[in-house]
Amino acid sequence: MVNIQKTAIIGCGFVGSTIAYTLLQRGTFSEMVLIDADTKKAEGEAMDINHGLPFVHAMDIYAGDYDDIKDAALVIITAGANQKPGETRLDLVQKNTKILRSIIHDIKAAKCEGILLIVSNPVDILTCVALKESGFPKERVIGSGTVLDTARLKYLLGEHLKVDSRSVHAFIIGEHGDSELAVWSTANISGIDIGHFSELRGSTSEEHVWEAIYQDVRDSAYEIIERKGATYYGIGIAVARIAECIIRDSHAVLPISVFLSGQYGLQGLCLSIPTVVGQNGAEQVLEIELDAKERQKLIESAEEIRKTLSQIV
Ligand code: LAC
Repeated sequence: MVNIQKTAIIGCGFVGSTIAYTLLQRGTFSEMVLIDADTKKAEGEAMDINHGLPFVHAMDIYAGDYDDIKDAALVIITAGANQKPGETRLDLVQKNTKILRSIIHDIKAAKCEGILLIVSNPVDILTCVALKESGFPKERVIGSGTVLDTARLKYLLGEHLKVDSRSVHAFIIGEHGDSELAVWSTANISGIDIGHFSELRGSTSEEHVWEAIYQDVRDSAYEIIERKGATYYGIGIAVARIAECIIRDSHAVLPISVFLSGQYGLQGLCLSIPTVVGQNGAEQVLEIELDAKERQKLIESAEEIRKTLSQIV
């Protein structure tokens, strides 16, 4: 029996521990188990995070092992090497596939019935690997995908248009990586076409401006890694948001990484598409309208992922 109030985080590096800290602050769960190959590290993080409890809400947080995840409703996997300066997410593939396979083996042995949320990179490839190795139904194996990239896009558009980024509705889809694309054809500010809104705000809406914003989004992680060595706050809050949509069964539309079986003419791989997210995980992968250019870019992005998938040993 799954305990809807319980989550497990596997991998307590910068990303895993930031997710744990964010979940503590948001009070999403009542029980959270932290697992790391380095048990001392998991213990230290649990101790440190527990000391915040008197300032928030009651929650049971502890370092554990795979026996503890049997009843977790959500298992968040962040384990693996992260990008070094200059490295792409795809460079990590062989290393992290190996680590993930061993984690999935342990998750299966624990008879976990929860949803697997993959965060480690390259996330689309690893979501596919997790799906295959676990044998879980496809709704129950998802990746954080371009939820973070979409937030970056909203933030930058908010800055450019001088509007609250929560009023911005736009998606980054495809690979969480260099071949991702922005869906400009449906981008809007609270229902107002983005070009029109831009005019209303006296801002320029020429093609090159949107292209520069897209490039900034795409290259954000490189820029941050060059400056501080890793990214973890943005992904921490993005993952907490996905977790909340699952646990509260909120049916929110998020561009998570999902397995495609024919949508957009694509199948047999995972990439990010706007998806209705609820208690069952990926409830419905939405086939939204894309213009011809976007459709082509999505196909090219899928090709990149497929190329990498075929290189996995
Ligand atoms: C990033 C990492 C999480 O985009 O891939 O910041």
